[in-house]
Amino acid sequence: MSPESITGPLTRPIVEAAPAPAIDVAAERARTPGVTESHHLNAAGAALPTAAVVDTVVEHLRREERDGGYEAAAAVSDRTEAVYDDIAELVGARSAEIALFDTATTGLRVLVDALLGAGTPRLLVSRSAYVSHALHLMAHARRTGAGLEILPLDPATGAVDLGALEATLRDGGPAIVFVAHLPTSCGLVEPVAALGALTRRHGARLVVDATQSVGHLPVDVGEIGCDVLVTTGRKFLRAPRGTAFAWVHPDVLPALEPRAPDVRGAAWTAEREWTLSGTARRFETWEHSVACRLGLGVAVRETIERGLGVTAAHLVALGASLREQLRSRPGVTVRDPAASSSGMVTFTVDGVEPAEVKNHLAAARIRVVTVPASHGQWDLGAREVPAIVRASMHVYNDADDLDALLSVVDTITAGPR
Ligand SMILES: Cc1ncc(COP(=O)(O)O)c(C=O)c1O
Repeated sequence: MSPESITGPLTRPIVEAAPAPAIDVAAERARTPGVTESHHLNAAGAALPTAAVVDTVVEHLRREERDGGYEAAAAVSDRTEAVYDDIAELVGARSAEIALFDTATTGLRVLVDALLGAGTPRLLVSRSAYVSHALHLMAHARRTGAGLEILPLDPATGAVDLGALEATLRDGGPAIVFVAHLPTSCGLVEPVAALGALTRRHGARLVVDATQSVGHLPVDVGEIGCDVLVTTGRKFLRAPRGTAFAWVHPDVLPALEPRAPDVRGAAWTAEREWTLSGTARRFETWEHSVACRLGLGVAVRETIERGLGVTAAHLVALGASLREQLRSRPGVTVRDPAASSSGMVTFTVDGVEPAEVKNHLAAARIRVVTVPASHGQWDLGAREVPAIVRASMHVYNDADDLDALLSVVDTITAGPR
C-alpha cells in the first residue's frame, strides 16, 4: 500500500459504523408471558407486563398474607423509596419532585386543583386533552366562571397551533396551558418542548399529560420545560394497573397546596394547625398498593435499562409501517393527523363499525380497542369521526403482529358489505 493511500482522502470509513442499537424483540417476548396468548396491540390501553413485574407484585402480596400489610411494607421500605429515585432518573428529575398516585386522572385532578387554588387564571387547553381531564376543567370553568379556551389546531400538523397560542398568551392575562403529549384518540405527538418554551417566555404555566408518552417516547421534564407532568403506569411503562406518578417543578411546588391534605403529606400539629411536606409527597394519600408500587419500580428500571431512544425508535417505526400499509388499502382510512410519529395508529374501515372491526380482530386473537367520540369530543367529535379502531405497539411486537392485523383487515374489506 503506498503512503498516499494511507494519508489520502477517505472514500469509505476504515471502521464500519457501529450498527444502531435495536430492540431485541425475541428477548422482550421471552420475558413477557402474555405474548403467547395473542397479538397484543393495546399498549395504549394497558401494555403486557414482564414476568419480573408480575412476580414482584405477587411476591409482595404473599408477604402481606404472611406478615401483615404494615409489617410487609416496613420490610420493603428501602425498595419503595428507591421507586421515587428510579422515576426521577427516568424523567430527569429529583426524587423530592415525584408524587405517586393510583391513576393519572387522580394525579391530574389533585395537581390541577392545587394550581387552580393558587389563582384564577385563564385555562388554555389542547384538543388532545383526555376525556376525564377535560370534564374536570369544564366543570371547574362552569362552577367558577373561569375562562376556558380550546386551543386551535395547526391545520398542517393537527397539533396545537403555536402561533395562535403565542398570540393568546401575549394578549391575555395569566394562563395555565394544558396539553396531552399524546392523546387517547389518535397517534398525534404534541410539540411539548415548543409549548414549554412559549409558556415560559410568557410567564404561563404548562401542565403536560404524559400518560401515553412516558415509556413510549423520551420524556425529560427539563427538556420540555413544563411545571407539572403526570403519567400512568399500566400503558407504555408496562407497570401494574393502579399506578401513576406526577412530577412537580421545585419552584412551583411550595405555592401548591393540596385541596384535601392527607396524613401522608401533612402533619396535624395542633388543634387547627397542620404543616405540609416540603416534597411532592404532600399530594399523596396514605393508603396505596405497596405491591403495585414495587411492580412500578421494576417496570421503570426495565424501561431505563432498555433505553428510551431505542424503544421510541422501535415503536415509531412500527407505527409508521402500519400507517403506510393501512393507507395503501382501499376501503381503509387512517385517522391520524400529520404529526403522528408514534407507535399508536388509528383507522376506520369504510362501511364497517369500528366495534365490528375490533370483533373480527379479536376472533383472530388480535387485541385492539375502539375509541368513541365521547372519549374525545375536542378531537374525534370535532372531526366528525364517531369512533376509531386503535392499535398500539410495544417492544414485544414486530412485523408479524402487523401482518396478522392487516390480513384480518383485508378479509373485512374483501367481504360483503
Ligand atoms: C392521554 C391520556 N390521559 C390520561 C389518561 C387517564 O389515565 P388513567 O386511566 O391512569 O387515569 C388516559 C387513559 O387512557 C389517556 O389516554
